[in-house]
This record gives sequence, C-alpha cells and structure tokens, in this order.
Amino acid sequence: MDRNLALEIIRVTEAAALASARWLGKGDGPSADQAATDAMRKAFDDVEFDGTIVIGEGERDEAPMLYIGERVGTGHVPAVDIAVDPLECTNSVAYARPNALAVVAMGNSGHFLNAPDTYMQKIAVSNLARDAISLEKSPTENLKDIAKALDRYIENLTVVILDRDRHKDLINEVRKTGCRIQLIPDGDVSAAIATAVPGTGVDVLMGTGGAPEGVLAAAALRCVGGAMQARLKPRSDADAERAKKMGVTDLNQIFTEEDLARGDDIMFAATGVTNGDMLRGVIFQKGGGMTHSIVMRARTRTIRFIETHHSFDGKPVYVSRDVRA
Ligand code: FBP
Repeated sequence: MDRNLALEIIRVTEAAALASARWLGKGDGPSADQAATDAMRKAFDDVEFDGTIVIGEGERDEAPMLYIGERVGTGHVPAVDIAVDPLECTNSVAYARPNALAVVAMGNSGHFLNAPDTYMQKIAVSNLARDAISLEKSPTENLKDIAKALDRYIENLTVVILDRDRHKDLINEVRKTGCRIQLIPDGDVSAAIATAVPGTGVDVLMGTGGAPEGVLAAAALRCVGGAMQARLKPRSDADAERAKKMGVTDLNQIFTEEDLARGDDIMFAATGVTNGDMLRGVIFQKGGGMTHSIVMRARTRTIRFIETHHSFDGKPVYVSRDVRA
C-alpha cells in the first residue's frame, strides 16, 4: 500500500474532527456525529484509492452514508478495506468530555474482522506484557502477570475501565488487587492505544465495549506494537445471529489484535476532537483552526504526530463553514 495514502487519510480525519468540534458542549450527540460523518464522506471523494467500508456507520439499510459495503475514494487502485468511526465518543463532544476522536483504519481486502455492531470483551497492554494476558484467566491473574512482565509493583499499575454498571464486578475485583483504576465515561479506542504509547500513564485496558471500536483499536495496536485479546459479547440473540452472518462461526473465539487487523498493510489515522491522553482537541482561531492527529503504519511502525494549521479561506465549504450555514 502506498505510504503517501497515510498522509492523504489525515485530511479525512481532520475534516471530520473540524466539522464535529463545532458541536462541542451543545448536548446534541446525533448532530455532532452527523457532522463528522458528512465531512468524512465528502473528504473521502478526493482520496486516490478504491476503498470499501467494512466497519462504518451501520448496515446499508440503516445508515445513509459510510455504510458497510459503500465504495469511497476516486475508484483508482489500490483497492483497500476501510474501518471508520467518524466520531468515536459522540457524548464526549456533546458534553465537552475528553478523548473524542475521528478515526480511519485501512488494510488489504478481507484483512479486518467484519465486526457486528455489538459488544466485545477486551484486554489491551503494551508489547512487553503480551505474553501475560489471556481472556481465559481472571482479571486478578492477568494483572498479577502483567505486573511481573512489566517489572512493576501491582499497586502502581493503572487500569482503564469504562464506567458502566456491567463492570461492577470487574471494578471490585481490580480494586482488590491494589491496582489504580481510571474510570472513563467513554472512549476505549484511545484508552487501548494509550496502553502501548509510552508516557500516557495507562498500563491496561479491561472490560467490554463496542466491537467495531475493538477492531479500530486493534489496527492502532498493530501499528504501535501493542497487544490485545478480545471476544465478542453479543447483547441479544439477534446480535449473535448477525455475528454469525458476518462470518464469526465461534462466538467464544478469542481474537488477538492480529486476528482483528491482519497483515502489515495496516494504516491508522486519528484526529483529536476533544482533548485526550494522546491527542489535543480542535482549536478554532481567527480565519481557521488547529488540529492534532496521529498517523501510523504497521509495516514500519513509524508514528507521526501531525499538528495542522488550517486556514478556512482555501478549504472546501464542508470543512470551513459551520455545518448549519
Ligand atoms: P460512541 O461514540 O459510538 O458513543 O462510542 C463511545 C464508546 O464509549 C466506545 O468508546 C465504547 O467502545 C462504547 O461506546 C461502549 O458502549 P456503551 O456506551 O454502550 O457502553
């Protein structure tokens, strides 16, 4: 895959971030999400590739754009599969909370798990603790082994968990191990990535979040060299049926990050919408704005942080103007 594509794709995540950031704190998640989706869809038109959405806003009949199977880009080679979340952490924009991102991952055809829109149990750590994690073990066993692998006191490990009722038992168990816990209102994609990026202070992500988000996190971990295990947790029989239709024959299968995002031709790009552990959110200023993005490739493991200063004079209208104008 052409490495220049990685930089092209940043324009797409920047457009989605700029459009959705205008909805900060307005209490209107759906509009923030719509703005990100519209802008991302339009920005894809200029990308020189033949892209197929494999993880997107939903099935064709329920999502008007960026639906699974939609073709994006100019239609010229290379042919790539695309996983997107135009706005990861919708509520973080609606209520001005941290860690909202616009995200795109790319890979060769058939290299992403076709994840249904259901839940997924996840554990993610840095490469150093790769051999310590297993979803077959209890949280306590995992954390003891992770502490050993990282050569750290268990009391100094920081475990990120989504603040949800379904995690009550998990939180109680982790508390008993002595680990520090960071409960987050949303955003397990950036939390998973943070485990593998030195200096974030995050050591482990544990718990159950979105399955599509799990694939996006796996793509990022392939690029930074982090480790993850995951298992689908369908919320209903209908979810389980859908998973099977999408090709997951064994619902108890444990996936690694490599199973979720295969091959070396994986690229990942994200632009911060609100401030987070890894990326700053959008800043608007006279005549334009500033964005902070990350772009990386699994083949080289090069990680680029890109600060872009946008002048709205020269931008397409979907980026420069308020979406309601
Ligand atoms: P959205 O942007 O789709 O709301 O996702 C935010 C998020 O917190 C994800 O990071 C996480 O994987 C998922 O929601 C968890 O789902 P739920 O809110 O149903 O617990």
